Parts: sequence; C-alpha cells; structure tokens
Amino acid sequence: MINRVLSGITPSGSALHIGNYFGAVKPQVELQEKIDETFYFIADLHALTTVQDKGELEKNIVAVVLDYLSLGLDPEKSIFFRQSDVPEHSQLAVVLANFVSLGHMKRMHAFKDKLQKGEKPDSINMGLFNYPILMAADILLYKPDGVPVGEDQRQHIEITRDIAEKFNKVVKQEVLRLPEPVISKEVGKVVGTDGERKMSKSLGNVIGIFEDEEIIKKQIMSCFTDPNRKKVTDPGKVEGNPVFIYHDLINDDKGEVEDLKNRYRDGRVGDVEVKERLFEAHKRLFEPARKRRKKLEEDMELVKRVLAEGAEKAKKVARETLEEVYEAIGIKNSLSVK
Ligand code: TYM
Repeated sequence: MINRVLSGITPSGSALHIGNYFGAVKPQVELQEKIDETFYFIADLHALTTVQDKGELEKNIVAVVLDYLSLGLDPEKSIFFRQSDVPEHSQLAVVLANFVSLGHMKRMHAFKDKLQKGEKPDSINMGLFNYPILMAADILLYKPDGVPVGEDQRQHIEITRDIAEKFNKVVKQEVLRLPEPVISKEVGKVVGTDGERKMSKSLGNVIGIFEDEEIIKKQIMSCFTDPNRKKVTDPGKVEGNPVFIYHDLINDDKGEVEDLKNRYRDGRVGDVEVKERLFEAHKRLFEPARKRRKKLEEDMELVKRVLAEGAEKAKKVARETLEEVYEAIGIKNSLSVK
C-alpha cells in the first residue's frame, strides 16, 4: 500500500518536454488525488553538474517551477519545494557516501554515458559522479513508499535501496525505508523525435509544452516517421512510429487517431497531415496549462510563497530523518550542541 511518494526534476534545461510530462509529471499530478502524501521538488543542486552560470540556473529553476504549477501540481495537496531550501539533502548525502563502494558508483549510467561519449574518467566532475548519492539522500530523507519516475531513473532507485540496506545493516536498525520505483510500462520511456533514443533535453529530440507555437510546430513537423515510406500511396507502419506514439498520448479525439492510422496503413494520408493533426491536438491539450502559466508569470510573489511554505513543511520531515541517522551512526552524541 503506497501512502507517501516523492519525486524530483532537474532544472537543467529551460522547460519541460512531453517525455517528462507523460513519463513523470502527469502520473505525479494524478497521485495527488489518490494518496495521502506527495512530495515533489526541483533538484537545483543536481543541475550544477551541467549548469554553472548563475543567470541560466535561475532562469531554468523559475521555468520548471512555473511548468509544474501550470501542469496541475497543487500546493494545497502536495508539498512542493526547492532542494537547496532544505539543506538536509546535502547533509544526508555526506553520510550516505560512506555506504556505497567506488566500484558500484562506476557502474552507474550517468557516469558510463559520459565515458561512452568519449570523456576521460579523470575529467568527469565529481558532482556528476556523486549524483546518485545525492539522489539517494533526496529520497531517503522522506521515507517514501514509492518514487514515481521515468524508466531512466530506475537504476538510481536501485542504488538508493542498496545504500539504505547497507546503512540499516551497519547500524542494526531499520532507520531508512527502502523505496519502490513507480514506473509506467506504457509511458516510462517516451521516444524522441529522432525515433531512436529516449526523448531528452540534452539530445535535442524533444517536443516542448510551453515554447512558442512556431517552435512546437517545427519540432512536430521535423519528427521522424516510417523511413521505408517514400510516397504517400505507400502503405505505412503505425506501430513504433513516433508520430503515432505521440497521437496516442496527446490526441483526445480517438476517432481521428483511428482514422489516421487506418489511412496511413493503406497509403491514403501523407505525413504532413498526420503531423498537422498532432500539432492541433497538442494545442488542445496544453492550452489550459499555457494560459495558467501566463497568469502565474505575473504573480511571482505567489510562486515564491508556495516554495517557501513547501520548504518549511519538507524540512520538518527531512530534519527528523537526519536526526535519526545522526543518532544511529554516532554523529549525534554526548558532545552535540542541543
Ligand atoms: P530529469 O529532470 O531528467 O527528468 C524528470 C522526470 O522525467 C522523466 N523523464 C522521462 N520519462 C519518460 N520518457 C522520457 N523520455 C523521459 N525523460 C525524462 C524522468 O525519468 C524523471 O522522472 N535524477 C532526476 C531528478 C531527481 C530525482 C530525485 C527524481 C533528483 N533527485 C529523487 C526522483 C527522486 C532527473 O534528473 O530527472
């Protein structure tokens, strides 16, 4: 039985894309209605692995906060905060680093991906290398039952469980709770517009949500389809075709989607029409959120208040866990200042 969940998002790019939305934000927003306690946060300390420009970092953080709130995150129902406002995240990470081996850390995807891209191990920044430890701290502080994320985060939750297990074993107490990943089979990994890799900010294969309409249209129109189809009259493949994957996710007019699929299979519709319909469906789906975002942009005081209140609530829970950890491992002792 899941009663409490926690999840985060890194403000490493300027805005969310539909992969983030369907893989993470939408299920997270739905959980607000279903379970007692939902904690969602903006992982600004994690962003430092790639964003080290003050102005850009602030712009990214503001954008992600506005995106989340516009897409339905309700601060009355969820505890919504910024990671750096709760210093316990960094404090717990320092302790947890002692409960994972170098060998285990070297097997983590983010590190291995960099090596694959030709980066030398000696030049990889330690923030990136240590990322999974900070993420374990993010999670374990709140003792959640579940962590709703996309498939790419599964390995991070596994290492979080390993670290918690090791810590509990050493202190011979069940201080930390082992969390379960909550990952959707259908939308845990939304493919990018290149039709090959996961949709990702860093790969530039995204469809945005809040960008100007011309940009979104361009992203949709340049989307990869069936490479074997040369002419409109050639029968096309629907399964695995990213344009139809997006139609299934975005288009509320299921009759239209079925009709487009049938005509595509028979060679009776061109890619341009399929994409234009997708663009229209995108506008229909995200228009309310886009309107809400415009309003929120005018009320940054409200946004600041939401984050301040969220941090205060989060801190209470986080502080309690950190105290338990300090006590169990001996950092809190007879010499501690009260
Ligand atoms: P981030 O910011 O890369 O992504 C945020 C969320 O979006 C999901 N996601 C996707 N889901 C489906 N298809 C895709 N193409 C896709 N791209 C992204 C991610 O899986 C994620 O759920 N390390 C995390 C942030 C984080 C965190 C945490 C999450 C920091 N601490 C603690 C949970 C708990 C990250 O960088 O996500």
